[in-house]
Amino acid sequence: MEREKIKTLLENQIISEQVSVKGWVKTRRESKELTFLELNDGSCLKNIQIICDASLKNYEEIKKITTGSALSIQGNLVKSPSQGQDVELRAQTIDVIFLNPESYPLQKKRHTDEFLRMNAHLRPRTNKYGAMLRIRSELSFAVHQFFKSRGFFYIHTPIITGSDCEGAGELFRVTTLKEHASEKADFSKDFFGKEASLTVSGQLSAEMVALSLGDVYTFGPTFRAENSNTSRHAAEFWMIEPEMAFCDLEKDMNMAESFIKYLVDYSLNQLRPDLELFITYVDKELVQRLESVLSHDFVRVTHREAVEILMKSGKTFEYPFSASSDLQSEHERFLTDIHFKRPVIVYDYPKNIKPFYMRVNDNQQTVAAMDILVPKIGELVGGSQREERLDVLKARMTANGINPADYWWYMDSRIYGSVPHSGFGLGFERLLMFVTGITNIRDVIAFPRTPGAIEF
Ligand code: 4AD
Repeated sequence: MEREKIKTLLENQIISEQVSVKGWVKTRRESKELTFLELNDGSCLKNIQIICDASLKNYEEIKKITTGSALSIQGNLVKSPSQGQDVELRAQTIDVIFLNPESYPLQKKRHTDEFLRMNAHLRPRTNKYGAMLRIRSELSFAVHQFFKSRGFFYIHTPIITGSDCEGAGELFRVTTLKEHASEKADFSKDFFGKEASLTVSGQLSAEMVALSLGDVYTFGPTFRAENSNTSRHAAEFWMIEPEMAFCDLEKDMNMAESFIKYLVDYSLNQLRPDLELFITYVDKELVQRLESVLSHDFVRVTHREAVEILMKSGKTFEYPFSASSDLQSEHERFLTDIHFKRPVIVYDYPKNIKPFYMRVNDNQQTVAAMDILVPKIGELVGGSQREERLDVLKARMTANGINPADYWWYMDSRIYGSVPHSGFGLGFERLLMFVTGITNIRDVIAFPRTPGAIEF
């Protein structure tokens, strides 16, 4: 509460007031008669300067205070005579709550991201990760604000599931069977009476609720056992998945574009103090890139048009591309970073490379799917109009090796009250990478889960 009080005092330009603060020491320096401490309580990037003089009864102890030590201070907030801060706190009493050892690994210097990843339990204490975590928190609230103001309902979909939404087989099994890895494993004796896994997407459940509540969204953790050790893939990531009834692909794309613009605008205009660290130290082109997102419509091209652009580019790519295959990240990056230099929505993908639930277009060759690709990151959003026609859905499932009977409840939603509906999934970590300029997904979540990494 003191932090609120200080904020109000500063806003009202009332200074010289008794306040108390608790926090951790960033630095200590001494002059002849005074000791200066930089204290931070984690609420913002800026430290508060504490002035200590010999009138403090434990002044000798204070002169030995180390970086990272925890203090509780009472004093007078006054206008600072020196440059660098508007106010400072003249300490009247200081309680040393914890004196850190000199060996504290986070001394005042810049550490590499790799070093900090190995110390993920301590890295929230650094300016960079503190700022990232505050931005992460604020943007989570912004997500809810966006959907609430548009009349969406926030729903919670299961984390443990018996279905494989994306059909890509990247499932983490959930079991209590000791012999689950053996050929003889009998999952009818398992906890749920059948095979279960951690969810790769809340979409199928969200569809069920959208077909009665209208517009809904989920925002939760998702799990994929992809063994791709890249800077953009995590085994556990957070996804925002809106699902809208009476909605076609075009409306879906419009909603996704508005959503991204809202979050970018929010970051630039509401989160500026923390964002400034990334603008200054992490990515010099960040503001320009984010502002250009706001000032232009996203480019929209069909998958076929995208392939034609790649063909005409004359560029040699490592991976082949064709009208019947998915784009690889180098192709996506070419479209966003070199060709269009802004976000691109690629839509109408070949049917055979996409999951069963996407709506088949009239040409029978493509589905009403869309991906939003953004500069530096690649795919930020994946979405589609859903197949609402029972017979087409059944045929697609069978063609994809899925037994419709296993998804009887999903089929039921197409037997009763089926309407055109659409949705998308936005990877929250990728969004954070986009707005902060951080280039590795391991650095936008406090405790990343990637192949071979489960410490902390
Ligand atoms: O394109 P995806 O696989 O779409 C779905 O899961 C749909 N069921 C969503 C829907 O229509 N409701 O994933 C959506 C987004 C991707 O665009 C990406 O941003 C993110 O989720 N994503 C990952 N983020 C981090 N690590 C991974 N391994 C990711 N896989 C997907």
